[in-house]
Amino acid sequence: MAEIQFRSISKRFGDVEVIPDLDLTMPDGQVTVLLGPSGCGKSTLLRMIAGLETPSSGEVRVAGRVVNDVPPSERGCALVFQNYALYPHKTVRQNLAFPLRMAKVPAAEQASRVQAIADLLELSPLLERYPRQLSGGQRQRVAMGRAMIREPEVFLYDEPLSNLDLELRVRLRLEIARMQRALKSTAVYVTHDQTEAMTLADQIVVLRKGRIEQVGAPLDLYRRPANLFVAGFIGTPRINLFPVSALEVGANGTRLDLGPVSLQVPQRLAPTVRTVGFRPEQARLGPPGPGEVALRLEGCETQAMEHLGDRAFCYLRSSLGDVVVLAPSAEARLSGTLDLALDAASLHFFDDREQALH
Ligand SMILES: Nc1ncnc2c1ncn2[C@@H]1O[C@H](COP(=O)(O)OP(=O)(O)OP(=O)(O)O)[C@@H](O)[C@H]1O
Ligand SMILES: [Mg+2]
Repeated sequence: MAEIQFRSISKRFGDVEVIPDLDLTMPDGQVTVLLGPSGCGKSTLLRMIAGLETPSSGEVRVAGRVVNDVPPSERGCALVFQNYALYPHKTVRQNLAFPLRMAKVPAAEQASRVQAIADLLELSPLLERYPRQLSGGQRQRVAMGRAMIREPEVFLYDEPLSNLDLELRVRLRLEIARMQRALKSTAVYVTHDQTEAMTLADQIVVLRKGRIEQVGAPLDLYRRPANLFVAGFIGTPRINLFPVSALEVGANGTRLDLGPVSLQVPQRLAPTVRTVGFRPEQARLGPPGPGEVALRLEGCETQAMEHLGDRAFCYLRSSLGDVVVLAPSAEARLSGTLDLALDAASLHFFDDREQALH
């Protein structure tokens, strides 16, 4: 068991309070992703688990034990950073074996563990090479292997893929996902990339300014964001959001005034609703069918198209503001008046405090 817990953690650097007061459980054997914009405190939280930062108050627990005073080397955590530092004058095999040599593991066992890790990370053909003879992705895999070889109870990743090109990033994040499933160790993964979070996480923690905005499984956050911030952070392209200037609740639901147009929805909404949102993939062109509501966009101009193959995300400018919709690719360059059909059940409503109403 290596559940990790923050209990009433706070962190100040001098006068600056970076984490005001935070409680969080990172379950055993799962991948928890800390997601949030730059400066929100992700690395600081990770470093407090590793023992590289000390909390100003509160407790860090690993496997039920308070570790505030336990030195980093005794916490059983392996760290993988963005800047992997391999020994340049050692081969891949020697780099991988190094932590075992330091721990005085017998030579035969060293060899078999290096081979097992190399097989898992597909490094076997590269064992006799030096780091300078490897690609960036291969070097990062060696760095991960070196962290893994001590069979840590906890993996801590701090944006390990952000230096890599897109293709490699996609491939390595799938590899990390596969590896974590195979190892069943507890992992905490820091990123500001929501796609990475959605791919890797069992549990995502969305952070803003050192506070937790929401904790949940990837699809929970996508389907039921707790507030405007989470709705805007999860999902790509971004959710479409429109201010509601007035609303009228009737027997058949609610009519929302969105400036130039109105939107009739089946939900009976609270008078505090100030924002309505829909995701690009939940809008289609055409008149509404069962379970859908109509939204007419006037004066549309296509600003850009993101082609996915048979369909494309169309970035529109309209009298309602900027809107993104998913349309068949054949419909390239939408313009003029467009009738959209929105899935009524997946509309999002937010109140005057930016909280979601479900
Ligand atoms: N040693 C330090 N001294 C003073 N302030 C610090 C120190 N380390 C971090 N901070 C501040 O704490 C805040 C959180 O930093 P942290 O590195 O945890 O952010 P982050 O979420 O990891 O951001 P990024 O995505 O840019 O890596 C930032 O405002 C940062 O400037
Ligand atoms: Mg960071």
